[in-house]
Amino acid sequence: MKNKTDIVIDIEPISRRIIINQIETSILEVLLDFSIQIKSLCGGIGKCGKCKIIVQEGNKFLNPLSSAEKSLLTREEIQNGWRLACETKIATENKNKLKEINQPQFRIYLSENLLQEDFKILTSGKIKDTLLNPSIKKLFIDVEKPSLNKPIPDEERVLMALKLENDKDIFNFNFNVFKEISSILRESDHKITIVLRNGNEIISCEAGKTTDENFGIAIDIGTTTLVGYLINLNDGKTYSVASRLNPQTQFGEDIITRITYIKNNPDGLKKLNSILIEALNEIVVENCNKVNIKPSQIYEATIVGNSVMHHIFLGLNPISIGLSPYIPIIQHGLNVEAKKVDLNIFPEGNAYTLPIIAGFVGADTLGVILSSEIDKEEELTLIIDIGTNGEIVIGNKTSIAAGSCAAGSALEGAHIKDGMRAASGAIDSVKINPENLDISFTTINNKKPMGLCGSGLIDAVAEMLKAKIIAQNGNFNKNLIGNNRFVKKNSEVEFILVKKNQTSLNRDITISQNDIREIQMSKAAFYAGTKVILKNLNIDSQIKKISLAGAFGNYINKENAKFIGMIPDIPNEKIFQIGNAAGMGAQICLLNKDFRIKAEKLLKVIKYVEISTKKEFQKEFAEAMYFPHFNLKYFPSLIEYSNIPKR
Ligand code: FES
Repeated sequence: MKNKTDIVIDIEPISRRIIINQIETSILEVLLDFSIQIKSLCGGIGKCGKCKIIVQEGNKFLNPLSSAEKSLLTREEIQNGWRLACETKIATENKNKLKEINQPQFRIYLSENLLQEDFKILTSGKIKDTLLNPSIKKLFIDVEKPSLNKPIPDEERVLMALKLENDKDIFNFNFNVFKEISSILRESDHKITIVLRNGNEIISCEAGKTTDENFGIAIDIGTTTLVGYLINLNDGKTYSVASRLNPQTQFGEDIITRITYIKNNPDGLKKLNSILIEALNEIVVENCNKVNIKPSQIYEATIVGNSVMHHIFLGLNPISIGLSPYIPIIQHGLNVEAKKVDLNIFPEGNAYTLPIIAGFVGADTLGVILSSEIDKEEELTLIIDIGTNGEIVIGNKTSIAAGSCAAGSALEGAHIKDGMRAASGAIDSVKINPENLDISFTTINNKKPMGLCGSGLIDAVAEMLKAKIIAQNGNFNKNLIGNNRFVKKNSEVEFILVKKNQTSLNRDITISQNDIREIQMSKAAFYAGTKVILKNLNIDSQIKKISLAGAFGNYINKENAKFIGMIPDIPNEKIFQIGNAAGMGAQICLLNKDFRIKAEKLLKVIKYVEISTKKEFQKEFAEAMYFPHFNLKYFPSLIEYSNIPKR
């Protein structure tokens, strides 16, 4: 529990909250004290200009810009709130003011280049065998040379050669091709490669035989992470994958804060769009470099993302998504020329965005539905996609419904005292011996622990429940509070998960009562959301199969997720971890263009449920706040744990 005079500093994009009593030193030293490693090439003496941070909240308490900052930061950076961490501290005259304020709050954004942590970005996923039917094909043709006897124009001779290679006889030239075909024919001895879209549209011609270099890119724009899959459209294989943190996180951790930023800043949309496109183009170039091709040899992109990311990518204002009745500007799949959205692939190449289901259930969810093929399932199947937002899809071959719940951010470390995103040093699994409360754990990259990521949190809470450290209502077990695993901070009790000497923080990593409440709310939102959708589907049957999508779902311990009541109690062999299913949906649409038609058809049959406005939600939510549930009959396999104290 925070003290009234504590200073709270939220660090983004790693979702770390640090709490200190006073700041006597620079922000750089505070970060290093909490083992948040950032680049500081000059050792913090204001010379290298590498330790750039954005102070998003709390600026008014800080010292004015130093002369080093004025010379090392550009005017634009200064306007945008950038500071040098080693030169930034609380202004002396403000120290007393801070003491009078109830929990002063700071928010600091660290750019990806600054962070020295390795983020674990999920790129893999399962994709069912997909018939290869891309919209792009390349054909190598040997064009007859013109002569005085046969003075046939270039266009006609190319068409004659094409007809010999292809059974179609109607082709349309993209006008730009006429501008270059003459020189390309002559410099390549009339041996050229034609790039065909949808079987008959000639979008480009290249000198010589370049049929092997036929690429497309599938892009997944997440609120926090970006992934690009470079795929050869001849064999359907993924040749390279590149990922980045979404640089928009500097403007807010979730879609609501991004919308707010756009609302409050006249050039907000332009800024969020341009930094996103810049990062996506870096992904394009990184992929191309790995495979040794040029970005212009990527002829198509397919894109998934939630509705807000989708709109920002297209440069469309997403404000209406954040306001009741939460509607997007467009819903259907969209084809737009890459150059019109500044995507650095073949300029006349097609950028296809998958359709959006609703304001808060976007193209990413449609990607999940396509790749999971829930529409072919015999059994009633639940898909939970847990990212910064949580999406729920329930259905089978007869009907499908979807909804969203704001349940993901706690699982990415937000609002959890020692929570963090899945990066080096995050505790990702926990075991507690119920006899002596000894604790073992693992961390990402085997680094000394510095916090807990989502899977570690679920494990910790489930293990605390099994060891009766907490009761079914989430409260600490009063009988154990004298144990040396408990520590009293201010007037609140916290459970010590990792002792100070084992951490890289030089303090204990603890779980507070508030942290447990956050997990209760998250898991209750998923459970209640599932119940509400089921009710609205009018299906009188039980969930028989569960697919967990997204990074968190991929690493979670299934048994423990069931144990705390986050997902229904069904046998483990019926619970599948399907990885980045949204990204796989983008891939499928690249590999086989028929899936784009299927996406539109699905859009007409998927029932969208606005979960939080349904009156039954609150009742379901309150009951699901218990571990695993107020009513154990919903979790028959956990009845043996019914001796866990109820309160
Ligand atoms: S660490 Fe070099 S300028 Fe701050």
